[in-house]
Amino acid sequence: MDHFLYRDGALYAEDVPVAEIAASVGTPFYLYSTATLTRHFQLFDEALEGMDHLVCYAMKAASNQAILKTLADLGAGMDVVSGGEYARAKAAGVPGERIVFAGVGKTRAEIRMALEGGIRQFNVESEPELRVISEMATSLGTVAPITVRVNPDVDAKTHVKIATGKAENKFGIPIGKAREVYAEAAALPGIKVIGIDVHIGSQLTDLEPYETAYRKVAELTEQLRADGHSISRLDLGGGLGIPYAPSNEAPPLPSEYGALIKRTVGHLGCEIEIEPGRLIAGNAGLLVSRVIYVKQGEGRQFLILDAAMNDLIRPAMYDAYHDIVPVIEPDAGAEQQQFDVVGPVCESGDTFARARMMPPVESGELVAFRSAGAYGAVMASEYNTRPLVPEVLAKGDQFAVIRRRPDFDEIINRDTIPPWL
Ligand code: LLP
Repeated sequence: MDHFLYRDGALYAEDVPVAEIAASVGTPFYLYSTATLTRHFQLFDEALEGMDHLVCYAMKAASNQAILKTLADLGAGMDVVSGGEYARAKAAGVPGERIVFAGVGKTRAEIRMALEGGIRQFNVESEPELRVISEMATSLGTVAPITVRVNPDVDAKTHVKIATGKAENKFGIPIGKAREVYAEAAALPGIKVIGIDVHIGSQLTDLEPYETAYRKVAELTEQLRADGHSISRLDLGGGLGIPYAPSNEAPPLPSEYGALIKRTVGHLGCEIEIEPGRLIAGNAGLLVSRVIYVKQGEGRQFLILDAAMNDLIRPAMYDAYHDIVPVIEPDAGAEQQQFDVVGPVCESGDTFARARMMPPVESGELVAFRSAGAYGAVMASEYNTRPLVPEVLAKGDQFAVIRRRPDFDEIINRDTIPPWL
């Protein structure tokens, strides 16, 4: 459920007409709903009620300061994967003890930043990383709390580019090797083992792979405890999917996911962390764009928008489906037409949808891409020197630009010409 609904013949973001925002901000832009972000965070929080837990928002999905602050004020922790994300989380007011640091390639500079600024835990992905963290913590006179990310060799049944839990993926330590790695961790002076971490992939629409992975984690918890380790926290990752196409079967609900967590690991008495990103931000954001031209091609009709692959890369990169709707509500009986929906960028990959059936729209009209809040703005670029797409946040009858569109001078002035030129 989201808060982008038609009202009196026009699409609204909560209580603000989308067209009014477009008139003020210009297109294209991302538009988020505070109520939707809030609701989705709370669904996870409630799903884990009765267990000691922290929902650590995977901020890679959408990391604008205003979004982070909205979630942090509700009590969210943050899952960060870079020094930049760590700095963003801190700048939004998230305390170090609510920040989890993930990622296969943490650099020394990033590790130092987190040790100095405060960290809930590092999710460690390799033995070399473990040794570097220990060495750095020791030199700073501290001890680093860690979990080891295990790779359970489970097929998440999702797009190959976003599956992470198979043995062939670069993530985590093979679960069969975990006892050995925990033994080494326990012997390192700068390391305090507190738990286990697992994340098997993104956009999961079936609970079965989670069930398999979490049962393996439960078994490992018991083995590690028997080996003498104190395992008090389980980070179960993120990945719960969202419905993208209206025809899609609805993926499992956070409440069903929460029940699965209780069923598989609840008996262990561990504190539970989860790292949802997409389900919190995905349906809380639209990409709003204007139709530039409707072009008749050879046996097809192109809808040429002012948004492009640099603003929303998901269709080009993952063949992702995003629902595209007119901002003026189509008549109930409006006949659908077939369009290839494209952007102005100079490559054929700049195609959002092929042979998409939609109500007819005309040049100058606004359209909105649904489910664009996660992995939308954060993956945008300035390819073709198209200014980085701005972001807007709605709340009730208010809206605010939370990242403005840079002008051409700003973009050009980031370059420098060397003295010899
Ligand atoms: N935790 C870890 C360790 C992750 O790697 C990820 C996502 C998450 C949590 C959050 O997963 P989520 O709940 O958002 O599914 N750009 C791609 C998605 C990449 C996901 C990367 N890792 C896309 O647009 O589909």
